[in-house]
Amino acid sequence: MKIKSIALLAGVVFAAGVSGLAFAKQELRFPIKYPEPKEGQVVHTPPTMEDLEAANLHPELKRTIRRGYDLFVNTQQLRGENVFNDMNCKSCHMGEGRLPFAAPVWRAAIAMPNFRGKNQHVNNLEERIAGCFAFSMNGKPPAYGSDDMIALTSYHQWLAKGLPIFERKDFYGAGYPIEKAPNTPSYDRGKKLYTENCAICHSDDGSGMRVDGKPHFPAVWGDLSYNWGAGIARQYTLAGFIRSNMPLGQPMTMSVQESWDLAEYIDSQERPQEPRFTGDVKDTRAKYLDTFHKHTNYGLEKQGRLLGDHDNFGEKDFIKPDNLRPRTYQ
Ligand code: HEC
Ligand code: HEC
Repeated sequence: MKIKSIALLAGVVFAAGVSGLAFAKQELRFPIKYPEPKEGQVVHTPPTMEDLEAANLHPELKRTIRRGYDLFVNTQQLRGENVFNDMNCKSCHMGEGRLPFAAPVWRAAIAMPNFRGKNQHVNNLEERIAGCFAFSMNGKPPAYGSDDMIALTSYHQWLAKGLPIFERKDFYGAGYPIEKAPNTPSYDRGKKLYTENCAICHSDDGSGMRVDGKPHFPAVWGDLSYNWGAGIARQYTLAGFIRSNMPLGQPMTMSVQESWDLAEYIDSQERPQEPRFTGDVKDTRAKYLDTFHKHTNYGLEKQGRLLGDHDNFGEKDFIKPDNLRPRTYQ
């Protein structure tokens, strides 16, 4: 057992080890040992919810942003409506969507609208958020223009305060960056690492941990996890997430190789069907190979099992959200 102290969970505040980063200390719930910004990278320090109270904004706008924040950290309140697994937005966008190396969500507020390779058309911020509902939350996005959608976009835009739109900058800590694996990732090494470092919270069978029937530690695979079409089902994304964020409270302790080994192990387990399922897993893999599945184990045989070869959509009773659709201005 490598976990040194569960006290890390109690919200111990560590001084930021990175010069030039001015995170408000009270917001730091995790010790950070992130790399220094590279030359030319833009470091964005998103405003906090306390800053919001002091900001010169209409009280109704503040209320909207607060509602967006509340939805972001407790997305389970939309369970059965829009969310059909044990995730909250903050399960993967750590530190309320503000932490670097945990895909801080402010980037989308200024990177959108933009063409998105995954769905091959121009997406705005609402549609980018909708993507995480459809795949990461194994659910269905709130309607475009709905109260909840406007609250969520307002929160994202609040976090982007001060940044220019339509400028492509290299942002420090955006996405889940990681170097290539030095050696071919190994299922067996990943399994051992998982048992020693992760199972205590995410359990041996990947189902996470529930307290009083409510999700406490999210499921990393199985019915209550993200589905096969989620961005984090890509191994480089999962490895990057793990390296900078897991085990909880101990970022950057798994080596690059160990992070890839863990990603190979986790990505070799079952999870709800890909919403873009054509009825045949190999066909679906082939259809989205270049834009997505070349980075996942979906439709591949692992440990004697053809992954994704099933009709299990998890908790939801539909395959694909009906409000996801292509568009073109031709
Ligand atoms: C299971 C993990 C997971 C959950 C849960 C999740 N996301 Fe994401 N999200 C991702 C991944 C992976 C990406 C892609 C990051 C990348 O590769 O740069 C992403 C990207 C995003 C982006 C674009 C960020 C950027 O840098 O362009 C936004 C905005 C976003 N998610 C919002 C949300 C919202 C809102 C929720 C809750 C409704 C949510 N996400 C839940 C994994 C998740
Ligand atoms: C001390 C408990 C704990 C340990 C140990 C831990 N995690 Fe997590 N993990 C969490 C929590 C909590 C979250 C969600 C973050 C949040 O809600 O703030 C999470 C989120 C995740 C996620 C994204 C959401 C999901 O469910 O897929 C992945 C992947 C993950 N952990 C993998 C790992 C791996 C791999 C390890 C071992 C190297 C590990 N975790 C160790 C508590 C833990």
